[in-house]
Amino acid sequence: MNAIPRLAQAIGDGKDFAKPAAEIHDAQHGKVHLQDVSKVFADGTVAVDRVNLEVEPGEFFTLLGPSGCGKTTLLRIIAGFEDLNGGAIFISGRSMLGVPPHARNVNTVFQSYALFPQLNVAENIAFGLRMRGVKTVERRRRCQDMMVSMQIDVFAKRMPHQLSGGQRQRVALARALINEPEVVLLDEPLSALDAKLRQELQVELLRMQKRLGMTFIFVTHDQHEALVMSDRIAVMDKGLVRQMGRVDDVYERPRDVFVAEFLGLSNIFRVQSKQGADVSTSLGMLRLSHTPETLQHVMVRPEKVLLSSLEEKGRGINDFHGLVREVLYMGATSQYGLEIDGYPLVATISNTQNGRTRYRVGERLRVHIEPASIVGMGG
Ligand SMILES: Nc1ncnc2c1ncn2[C@@H]1O[C@H](COP(=O)(O)OP(=O)(O)O)[C@@H](O)[C@H]1O
Ligand SMILES: [Mg+2]
Repeated sequence: MNAIPRLAQAIGDGKDFAKPAAEIHDAQHGKVHLQDVSKVFADGTVAVDRVNLEVEPGEFFTLLGPSGCGKTTLLRIIAGFEDLNGGAIFISGRSMLGVPPHARNVNTVFQSYALFPQLNVAENIAFGLRMRGVKTVERRRRCQDMMVSMQIDVFAKRMPHQLSGGQRQRVALARALINEPEVVLLDEPLSALDAKLRQELQVELLRMQKRLGMTFIFVTHDQHEALVMSDRIAVMDKGLVRQMGRVDDVYERPRDVFVAEFLGLSNIFRVQSKQGADVSTSLGMLRLSHTPETLQHVMVRPEKVLLSSLEEKGRGINDFHGLVREVLYMGATSQYGLEIDGYPLVATISNTQNGRTRYRVGERLRVHIEPASIVGMGG
């Protein structure tokens, strides 16, 4: 199983909350469909390269990739701020060709909290409703509900400059969500916050999303944030979607070296030759439970490497002797830098016992990898 807790699952599917507004609309409401979408800037930069995505209504979908891979450009295309060089976009089943940003039922939250400096918190949040002519009593009620949900009701009368970064970002999120758009686009909205605040807002944002039933397309370069929050992710590199799927599937079964390394620590070995389920690697012979057609590398996540003392009995296959070269104590887990016949292997184990770590530098131990824990990959 995935070592990283699934916040999305832990929070549930929204059944405990008020009935999502989206439920009363048709099945296409909030669906985002990109067909062969490309964007080439005037200087020739290919920022987005034939991207195909179908984001389902009410889904928390994440675009994950390194800086410069085209995440922001893709969001801006969906919002209508950038023209396409090719392809088509449908939101809630309607083509967005020629539809300007303000006519799309989409709200965007950016990394920098773009609040109106001359308006207080409540006025900032109610701004969109006011523009749409929502009556004062109704506006006040919805604004108050939203501020309570985002835990900012005590700051209602404060001006933006009187708020901390985290509080300002709560206001920015509240201001986008109160309009109940079909789709909310979020461009690294939490990345300027410190770790603890960020975790708190991750949980709150997920709760709000499940409760309101809106489609979220969330951008991050942080693999941990993507794993924790998303229903599905698309891993991007140089304008291309390298792999798309449920987070746990992509983490457990990356298609290639780029995706495997981007989603977390991994041990990757080049395949030298193959005989049925047995492959020859620099580590030695490895038995796999499943081998894909194109097999160039095999990958093992560090938490799947099993360690035991030399006295314990081996299991016959995928057994090695290792030497502990390095131990990194990380609180809940320890990371072991091992050496097997001169080749490095990283293993992570939970620190469930008392004392700092289980094995010491210089110690020799037994290493085992289950065939089902080894992933065969292409390039
Ligand atoms: N207005 C622009 N003109 C030219 N190139 C741009 C423009 N905006 C972005 N780019 C380039 O497009 C690529 C993708 O950028 P961006 O979408 O901002 O990536 P990300 O959000 O993933 O960091 C980068 O190479 C960037 O330099
Ligand atoms: Mg960006």
